[in-house]
Amino acid sequence: MTNRYDEAFSKSINDPNGFWGEAAEDCHWYKKWDKVLDDSRKPFYRWFVGGELNSCYNAVDFHVENGRADQAAIIYDSPVSDTKRTITYRELLGEVSNFAGVLASLGVVKGDRVLIYMPMVPETAVAMLACARLGAVHSVVFGGFAPKEVATRINDAKPKVIISASCGIEVKRIIPYKPLLDEAIKMAEFKPEKCIILQRPMSKADMTAGRDLDWNELMSKATPHGCVPVAATDPLYILYTSGTTGVPKGVVRDNGGHVVALKWSMRYIYNVKPGDVYWAASDVGWVVGHSYIVYAPLFLGCTTILYEGKPVGTPDAGAFWRVISEHKVKVLFTAPTAFRAIKREDPKALLLKNYDLSCFQALFLAGERSDPDTLNWAATNLNKPIIDHWWQTETGWAICANCLGLHHFPVKYGSPTKAVPGWNVMVLDENSQPVGAGTIGALVVKLPLPPGSLPTLWNNDAGYLSSYLDQFPGYYLTGDAGFIDEDGYVSVMTRLDDIINVAGHRLSTGAMEEILADHQDVAECAVIGVGDELKGQVPLGFIVLKSGVTKAHEQVIKEVVQMVRDRIGPVAAFKTATVVARLPKTRSGKILRGTMQKIADSLAFNTPATIDDPTTLDEIKTSLKAIGYAK
Ligand code: COA
Ligand code: AMP
Repeated sequence: MTNRYDEAFSKSINDPNGFWGEAAEDCHWYKKWDKVLDDSRKPFYRWFVGGELNSCYNAVDFHVENGRADQAAIIYDSPVSDTKRTITYRELLGEVSNFAGVLASLGVVKGDRVLIYMPMVPETAVAMLACARLGAVHSVVFGGFAPKEVATRINDAKPKVIISASCGIEVKRIIPYKPLLDEAIKMAEFKPEKCIILQRPMSKADMTAGRDLDWNELMSKATPHGCVPVAATDPLYILYTSGTTGVPKGVVRDNGGHVVALKWSMRYIYNVKPGDVYWAASDVGWVVGHSYIVYAPLFLGCTTILYEGKPVGTPDAGAFWRVISEHKVKVLFTAPTAFRAIKREDPKALLLKNYDLSCFQALFLAGERSDPDTLNWAATNLNKPIIDHWWQTETGWAICANCLGLHHFPVKYGSPTKAVPGWNVMVLDENSQPVGAGTIGALVVKLPLPPGSLPTLWNNDAGYLSSYLDQFPGYYLTGDAGFIDEDGYVSVMTRLDDIINVAGHRLSTGAMEEILADHQDVAECAVIGVGDELKGQVPLGFIVLKSGVTKAHEQVIKEVVQMVRDRIGPVAAFKTATVVARLPKTRSGKILRGTMQKIADSLAFNTPATIDDPTTLDEIKTSLKAIGYAK
């Protein structure tokens, strides 16, 4: 017997034009599309070609004009600054149109890039929406990245204007953002014309005369600006994400497919309705923040929570329960690591008893593999559906999920359930052949990808092809490996490349190796991800010193740790390294990172037949034991 999920899935694959054309009727268009799916330039597919719309109009103006003007659009809850603020759709429209006016007065027009390096304050969402209003392309950079990472993004995106704030707040620590931005601009070859700085009361930034402008001053004399119609295929934003080298990939999101897919996902994956309160406890600097703090909840006319705090320590492990009960949150979306943090502080969930969570409908987890312990703990204590779902920066929304708005399937721990409508997920072997149920292989999506997923990389069609499409022609390579069982449940097991997930943040060990290799005393190095009780994974470095180096090992380690922090940022959480005499390699010289990872995590492993010298594995094991791994 089929259910609504089966019907939707099969229509989305067999009749994508009909399926997504119908979904697009739920959005506001200045001009309807000529074609739903344009496949005339395979493997580049485009959605809603010929259509014109504005993402900001769909997120804000539409609701003001359709009875939601006085409903809360954003609830800003910031335990770290002791602030709570509710912004209605009417107020949001005022702020966004004024800030769009500010940007326009600085010469920002459709197609210009604007870089946003901001903490979790409502002004960040206002800035993003103001860009969308003008048809300008925003590129938000997560606050935990170091100046060099910001500089790389400035050079690639070439923003006319940069928007930043005087500081962010990490629990009780003030992090001055402005000096980081100044350094980034100094490092970058491309220079922005202007910077707009939001001065936060807890730390004022020094301004650079002629370049830096004060957010509040500009807003006090702003002239509101209306929505500029853009083509459905025009870019809405660029979001950089870790690739396999130190150079991040600029994932492009278009306007039309994005509105359609995200609005659809709110109804059918998350099962929320206009007016509901939705909370993605992430950061606007990540894709989760783009899609589910800012755009999707506003497209549907929900209230979104913008939370500037942590799951623990702001002030305690009851913070999430407080926010849910106080603001009547129906759906929470976060990374499993947040729940591991809460579980660690309050294993019996005693703080939960202080709050009324009757409003709460479901918890969605993503960003890393959900471990059964955490799932169990959340399910037992919350007594609500706990939904693991799988997606990536590139896809913009979930590839696999238990689509609560269509059909609630029984949960199988360790699986994000089934392919979401639009995503034809398959598992291929190295010869591009589909494998049988239960067999692990490369997780791929048969083209075309659905609306909302990346159409290409910024200014880099060739990189898009080589990173995602060349390996298995006709399929999108997710970079994850896994299997599909006989019931169609997908399990995502591991990455096929050097990407690791640290506290739900995606990082490249290759990028860290590039930094370690830059140290004057380092001859060779390797960085692997090792299991961590709180963060899921953390990076761990192995260093082979150049011959003749007499410096204390601890000193070299201290220096490389600092180098990673300086160049990638604190978010890399690179804190441990060990000096070894040699790295285990194959006879052709390939470092056996996978085997090293298994040894570090105390897992069973087979000595690879291609290993050059098996005794190197014993040496690695001894070094790892000395620092608490390989038990
Ligand atoms: N600006 C500046 N620094 C930041 C930052 C920001 N926006 N975000 C994080 N950092 C810093 C942290 O202060 C920390 O610095 P430290 O090494 O000096 O302590 C470092 O980057 C690592 O941060 P994080 O990985 O967040 O670790 P944490 O120990 O501070 O917190 C958790 C751990 C689990 C509580 C936290 O990661 C969390 O809440 N994660 C779940 C939600 C989430 O962010 N998901 C993302 C994808 S959905
Ligand atoms: P990001 O682009 O930062 O969202 O990271 C995407 C990667 O995180 C994916 O390719 C997976 O490796 C991992 N990931 C995200 N969600 C899940 C999940 N539910 N289960 C397993 N891995 C996940």
